[in-house]
Amino acid sequence: MKGIILAGGSGSRLYPITKIYSKQLTAIYDKPLIYYPLSILMLSGIRDILIISNDETIPFYKQLFNDGKQIGLNIQYAVQDAPNGIAEAFIIGEKFIDNDNVTLILGDNIFYGQLDFIYNAILKNTGATIFGYRVHDPERYGIVEFDKDGNAISIEEKPSKPRSNFAVPGLYIYNHEVVNISKNLKPSARGELEITDVNKEYLRRKELKVQRISRGIAWLDTGTPEALLQAANFFGVIEERQGLKVACIEEIAYTMKFINKQELESLINSIPKSLYRDYLERCIKD
Ligand code: G1P
Repeated sequence: MKGIILAGGSGSRLYPITKIYSKQLTAIYDKPLIYYPLSILMLSGIRDILIISNDETIPFYKQLFNDGKQIGLNIQYAVQDAPNGIAEAFIIGEKFIDNDNVTLILGDNIFYGQLDFIYNAILKNTGATIFGYRVHDPERYGIVEFDKDGNAISIEEKPSKPRSNFAVPGLYIYNHEVVNISKNLKPSARGELEITDVNKEYLRRKELKVQRISRGIAWLDTGTPEALLQAANFFGVIEERQGLKVACIEEIAYTMKFINKQELESLINSIPKSLYRDYLERCIKD
């Protein structure tokens, strides 16, 4: 299974925070936003990861992650020239995906809670697996409608009259067919290759599984300054209460056995004196 993080976009709704660098690099409490989706891929056991962003932002991601080796990953980078839609990621990433399956996560999507259902879905996927999460503002998302038996019957992108309150989060699991499906898409009215159209095609082929996410899971929004503050507060509360960090990619690399103790030690030595470094030192001792 390959992983793609799509981390472009102008983030214009967050101006001037996003005037210099993209939203996925802004802080959620004590680490850049992109650490959260990256940690989901890592916890799923995915080690080959392609980060897609625009030309100006990729050097920042390279500074953050390099080739990923220090955390036991193989991280590659690719450019999306213009905001041509989420599904374009599979065309840009065709070579990287090769003959494999692929999980795409949006670089601004945060999930928190008992996430085994995601890791299992990634293991068991055959056609496509997406998720449905109850929200109070469905006009803002891709929306999935279910029949009485819980089967998905329609999916619409940002409908003005939503048929349900179940939004499709930015985490999509596909077999290799996604590359061909994406290549055959036509741009939508807003000029994008829509991920919703990919999902509609899998639905038409009866190969789409939509799993409802239970209310105990947090899928957080990061689209506005208030949402950023709420997400930062959320993780601040949890981390301070437990004394454990969420989305600490070095710790995850170690607990997932992507790197051994010695490798973690040398990684820690490269981190400046900080609370983050203190935390990793404690992780080794525990
Ligand atoms: C995109 C997708 C939408 C999905 C959302 C999740 O929306 O088009 O279907 O529900 O991500 O974050 P956008 O980022 O374009 O608002």
